Amino acid sequence: MRLTITTTSQDLASVLSAQGIKLDLRCGGRGICGRCRVFLLSGAWFIDNVRHTVSPSAPLSALACRCRLATGSGDIEVPDSSRSETSIQASSSWSSRPLPINHGIAIGIDLGTTTIAAVKVVNGIPVAEASCFNRQNAFGDNVLTRIQKAGDTAGLDLLRRAAVDSINDALAQLGAEDVTSLAIAGNTVMSCLLHGIDPTPIGTLPFTPPCRVFPTRPARDLGLNAPGDVLTMPAISGYVGGDLTAGLNEVKLGSDEMLVDIGTNCEIIFNLGDGRLVCTAAAAGPAFEGAGLSCGCRANHGAIDHIAADGTFTVIGGDDVQPHGLCGSAMVDFLAMGQASGRLNQFGRFQPSAPSLTLAPGIVITEKDIEQILKAKAAVRAGIETLAQHCGIAPRKIFLAGGFAQYLDLANAIAIGMLPPGDHVLVGNTSLGGAARLAAQPESLPALIELSNQPRELALNTLENFENAYIDALML
Ligand code: FES
Repeated sequence: MRLTITTTSQDLASVLSAQGIKLDLRCGGRGICGRCRVFLLSGAWFIDNVRHTVSPSAPLSALACRCRLATGSGDIEVPDSSRSETSIQASSSWSSRPLPINHGIAIGIDLGTTTIAAVKVVNGIPVAEASCFNRQNAFGDNVLTRIQKAGDTAGLDLLRRAAVDSINDALAQLGAEDVTSLAIAGNTVMSCLLHGIDPTPIGTLPFTPPCRVFPTRPARDLGLNAPGDVLTMPAISGYVGGDLTAGLNEVKLGSDEMLVDIGTNCEIIFNLGDGRLVCTAAAAGPAFEGAGLSCGCRANHGAIDHIAADGTFTVIGGDDVQPHGLCGSAMVDFLAMGQASGRLNQFGRFQPSAPSLTLAPGIVITEKDIEQILKAKAAVRAGIETLAQHCGIAPRKIFLAGGFAQYLDLANAIAIGMLPPGDHVLVGNTSLGGAARLAAQPESLPALIELSNQPRELALNTLENFENAYIDALML
C-alpha cells in the first residue's frame, strides 16, 4: 500500500493509525520488535531524531514507530507483512465436565494477552462463540510491555479502555442484551488492567500482585455493554493468574498430576497429593507466537502450522492459501524433522553449515529463529523438570492447556525435548471453560477464591538446578 503523508506532529505509526491503518506494534512502539517496518520513498524524515532526505531512487527502510515526517509531504509504502492482523480464531474449546444447568444466559470470557475468546451458555449448553484480538496489542505483545505502559495514569486508562473495548467487541458478536451473568478469566496483569488497577508491582521483585481477588461489579460500571454483574476469576500469584485458577477447577488434578499452560508465560501447577499444590511460571517468551522469528506469525489464516518429514507443510485455511509465515507449532515440527534427518545438530545448527533454509518462496528459517525456539522450549522443559525435581516426584500425567498446545504435534514436542515422555492430555482453553462455569454458577466464586489460595508458589530462579535444567534443555 502506497500513501502520501503530510502530518509532521506525530510518529508515523500514530499517523497511520489515525488513518485506520493498523500496524503490528508488538513491542508497543519501542523500536525493538521490528514488526512495523515501512519504506520511505520520498520526503524529509526524522528517524530516531536524525534527519534524512529520501529520494525515490534510494528508498529507506524504517520503523514506523521511530520515524516522523520532518516537513512538507512524503511518500511511503506499507508492506502487508507490517500490518496488524484483523481477524483471529482464538481457541474456544475445552474438554472438561459438563457445565451446570442454569436457567439464565451466561457468558464466559477468556481475557488473553493477545486474544479474547468468549462463549455464550444457555442451560449448560454453549450456543455461540466469539473471538477477537485484544486491542492492547497496540501497546506491545506481552505483559511486560503492558506493565510498562500502565506505569502512569494515562497509560493505565488507555489499557483499561482497550481491554473494555475488546470485550465489548466479543459481546457484540455474541449478543449480550439478555445476559444474566458474565465472568472473566485472565492472567493477573490482564485482570488488574480491566479493573483499572496498576499492575506495576508484578513487574519487579518479588512480583507481588496488587490484587488477587477482584471485586464483583456491575458490568456497566466497568464500561461493558451487558446488564448484570461481572465476576472475575481470582488469581493465584503475579504470574500464575485467574486463567490457571480456572484451569485447576476444570481439570481437577489427581495426585502427581500436572497442569501446564504453554504461552509467552508457561504456568505450571503440580498436585503432590494430600491437598498440597505447588505452582510456578517460566518465561518462555513470545517465539511460540511467532514473534522475533524472521517469518514468524501467529496461528492464523495463511500460517504454516505443520511440517512433515518430507518438507511438505500444511497451511491454516487450506492448500490453496498462500502461506505468509510460520507459527510456533511448525517450528517445533521443523526442529524434530531436522533432528531426525541430521539436518540440524544438537545445538540447532544446520548441517552442512548454512545461514538459513528456504521453506517456501519468501519464507525462510534462520539459525537465529531456531535459537529462539530452543530457548522457549528449554524454558518449558526446565520449568517442568525443576518443579518435579524439587518436589521429588515425577508427574504421572501432564494436562496441556492453552491454544498453542492444541496445535502441537505431541510426538515432535517430546522428540525435541520440550516435554518429557509420558502421558499427556490436551485440555484446550480451560480458562474459557472455567469462566463459563463461573458465569453459569456465580455462587461458586467463594470456592474459587479458596482454590486460588491453595497452590504454594515456587520461584524458579530460587530453585536449585533450574539453570542446569535450562542449559540441558537448550539441546536438541
Ligand atoms: S519496532 Fe515498531 S512497534 Fe516494535
